[in-house]
Amino acid sequence: MKKLISISMNLKKIEALKSLNSECLVIGIYEDKNLNEITKILNSDSSGLLKKLLTRKELTGALKNQLYLPDMTGFKANKVFLVGLGKKNKELNEDEFSQLSSTISKITISSNAKDVDIFLPEIKVKLKKPSWVYKILSRDLESGCYQYFFEGKKTQPKNKLKKINFLNLAGNESKAKILSSIKMGHVIGAGMNTSKDLANTPANICTPSHLAKQAKLISKTFPSIKTKVLGEKEMKKLGMDCLLSVGNGSAQESKFIIMQYSGGKKTSKPHIIVGKGITFDTGGISIKPSPNMDEMKYDMSGSASVFGTMRAIAEIKPKLNIIGVVASAENMPSSTATKPGDVVNTLSGQTVEILNTDAEGRLVLCDALTYIERFKPASVIDIATLTGACVVALGHQATGLLSNDQNLADNILESGYSSCDKAWQLPLWDEYQSDINSKYADIANIGGRAGTITAACFLSRFTRSYKWAHLDIAGTAYGGRVGKTSSGRPVPLLTEYLLSRKQ
Ligand code: BES
Ligand code: MN
Ligand code: ZN
Repeated sequence: MKKLISISMNLKKIEALKSLNSECLVIGIYEDKNLNEITKILNSDSSGLLKKLLTRKELTGALKNQLYLPDMTGFKANKVFLVGLGKKNKELNEDEFSQLSSTISKITISSNAKDVDIFLPEIKVKLKKPSWVYKILSRDLESGCYQYFFEGKKTQPKNKLKKINFLNLAGNESKAKILSSIKMGHVIGAGMNTSKDLANTPANICTPSHLAKQAKLISKTFPSIKTKVLGEKEMKKLGMDCLLSVGNGSAQESKFIIMQYSGGKKTSKPHIIVGKGITFDTGGISIKPSPNMDEMKYDMSGSASVFGTMRAIAEIKPKLNIIGVVASAENMPSSTATKPGDVVNTLSGQTVEILNTDAEGRLVLCDALTYIERFKPASVIDIATLTGACVVALGHQATGLLSNDQNLADNILESGYSSCDKAWQLPLWDEYQSDINSKYADIANIGGRAGTITAACFLSRFTRSYKWAHLDIAGTAYGGRVGKTSSGRPVPLLTEYLLSRKQ
């Protein structure tokens, strides 16, 4: 396990900032044409520098406005960064704060300092307490520090940041409450980084067996998680033919992984998260075009988010029963690969006509979703980079959400907002179901025009006995503004959802 940065709180008055022997100091400034209580003090401590900068409009305090002062007059700190918080009495919405928080995280990390002190006066967010603000901040700081260690690359990125210290306690909550939120955000950030590490690992290393090994490793580090791994022989015996059909063309053995965290009463039903773990998706015989096919190493991002969430859960230790499941295979073309038109059995007993071998995610998930019926789940969420259509519909901003239970969907939408890791619901109406009728089997694995919805329709045929939601993370798990790199989403959403369960 990688070492986390340390985040602490060591209270100081603003008047004391000038004499702090800090490697790097980040100070939040409100937007104000006149000097306010903060800029007044900073101005006199810097012999009028702040006023000059404000007059010249180099510093405005507008949301996310930033200024770097390598040697701030009158201040002992080596580097000072001023960051705009917007107008003092204007409440921010979650989106605005989320952007501010990642700006603060970026400034802190790009400072190249080992040790950073942060002074932030109160940031008001609509309907949120200060502890929420600190939770998101510390999560973004930990997650922002993430760097992938490229094994085969000579020049390794070096992130120096080791220690962050909050200098003030803004708002009316106790220090203990704030510290526990900081800890919470911190481990969620660490969970995101676990997820990113797995997803960024090239597919020649990150195989289904590699995922199985990582699951056992998580169990070793966190004994509260018990791991079980099924190989192809065991799955064949159970009748998971549909999952197995995806790996038919691959030399890599398919794996089914079950990670059980039992923090609740024996009688309390578990919440289950199920991840798509296609470690590489060539499309199979329905092969994908070459450009950007490298991105298909991210096709196990759903399972990566299960690992990251389980790690965060193991550190937070809620009084809940939670199970993380991963359905993993490699989708390759070969003489033994599944062919378009093949009909396979599923664990549920329903048959599937595989019209397109590139619609493989649903094929591994359906058997996983049937397998978990034995746990009598309180709720089930599957997470999958399932359809390109979802990226067209929602871009890289929101995760697609479809569910057979509106109450569950509402809870997930809410968790998305409050973790700044948003989802947006698409319909799962009956009228879409006929799009996946098949001439030769009970269900076809593709059909219709609404790709994201029909994919969920397919899964819905296997989830009738419990409350279920599907998250399509094809757009949010990687790419977009972050480039070809994993985002760690939707670990924040999943963790938030699970922690808000009563039992
Ligand atoms: N893994 C892909 C979906 C995907 C596409 C994720 C682009 C991220 C970016 C999935 O297995 C797939 O190939 N889906 C097909 C389904 C189609 C054949 C019905 C798709 O979206 O094109
Ligand atoms: Mn595919
Ligand atoms: Zn896929």
